[in-house]
Amino acid sequence: MPDRSTLLFVVAPHIRQALRQLLERENWRPLFADNGNEALDILQQQGVELVVAGFHLPDMTGPEFLGLVRKRFPQAFRLLLCGDADKRGAGWALAEGCAQQLIHLPWDDAELPQILRRYLQQLQAQRQKGADLQTLLNNIPSLPSLPSTYLELRDCLDDPAGVNLERVTYIVSSDIGTSAVLLRWANSALSGQLTRVETVRRAVVVLGTDLVEWLVLSRALKDTLGSKEVPGFDFSELQTHSVGCAVLARMLARRQYPDSPEIADRAFIAAMLHDLGKLVEAEHLTDHFRQAVAHAIADKGLLVESEAEINGFSHAEIGSYLAAWWNMPSFIVNAARWHHDPGKSPADRGIVTLVHVANSIIQEFGVGRSGNHHPPPVDRERWERFDLTPEFMAQMQAQVKDLSNFELE
Ligand SMILES: [Fe+2]
Ligand SMILES: [Fe+2]
Repeated sequence: MPDRSTLLFVVAPHIRQALRQLLERENWRPLFADNGNEALDILQQQGVELVVAGFHLPDMTGPEFLGLVRKRFPQAFRLLLCGDADKRGAGWALAEGCAQQLIHLPWDDAELPQILRRYLQQLQAQRQKGADLQTLLNNIPSLPSLPSTYLELRDCLDDPAGVNLERVTYIVSSDIGTSAVLLRWANSALSGQLTRVETVRRAVVVLGTDLVEWLVLSRALKDTLGSKEVPGFDFSELQTHSVGCAVLARMLARRQYPDSPEIADRAFIAAMLHDLGKLVEAEHLTDHFRQAVAHAIADKGLLVESEAEINGFSHAEIGSYLAAWWNMPSFIVNAARWHHDPGKSPADRGIVTLVHVANSIIQEFGVGRSGNHHPPPVDRERWERFDLTPEFMAQMQAQVKDLSNFELE
């Protein structure tokens, strides 16, 4: 960053010492306070980019303190240190939007500076953009936290020892609605099953964990981000667009990188979430979003362009901030941020390109709708890296043609 970033740590003295040593090599200006009121005074007097608070402060709790910071100094990022015993309160602090990320104690010496650096980089990107997006996001009463069912599922799917199918089944079965939808899908034309699928376990096997993950996440997103009416914009159409894009990105990846199945998995989830920012806008920046959608319809244009015109930023920025806040892997953050402009992505360009191309093809196919009047322009050079023969295009089209019948309820 051009100027040294100022970070404020509100922590007990013994932690302060360890932090000082850890951050010695960074070009930051760390400030320290022993309690919440002292920290609020510091914030009043100096510009602080990032605040890290302990869970138990002498004069208030860490979540209470961060709640005050959010109200009075919304431009500062807020992180909360928490131990195992604080898990419940920390979950609440996240759900209420007091804290934007938790740092678990004991922290990992290699990881902590990286986390802080990532937030500072985000801030820098926003500054370059000119719009004070962070203030706007911080003022949203409660940005959704990732639902615990999804986190549990993710944990299980990421298990280095391999996916435990019994555990996946157990997690999915804990929600009757999700189980019912899963069984319906497993028995639909999509799965190609000749015999009836009668158990959730079998449905998970038939559909694959990707689709299960998508279902759990989509249902959760619908619960938290699907309540506002925006004329011309339809949540379920966007979901169809997203899953269609995911299916195509995976097909393209399997063809392009036949020896790397993990790229196909990554492309799938990155594509599912690429338009996440639209959901946040619809729910929390509703008036702006209504204007942008109406403008795109009147102009017969692209939503991403009318968003930028009206708000100064688009769903790409918003979605990537939320994904970063949820601590999602960088390929998801970058796909959300750069799917309209893959050449600019600082990393993960392979995945971002897959999402970019799939996003365009799915709109050509007319499966689902994402708020655009016509398919977005495609980066020709990247497009041509894929050998998109008429046969392969037809295969892709056949694969997604029934997706509109997929319903989350
Ligand atoms: Fe988009
Ligand atoms: Fe899209």
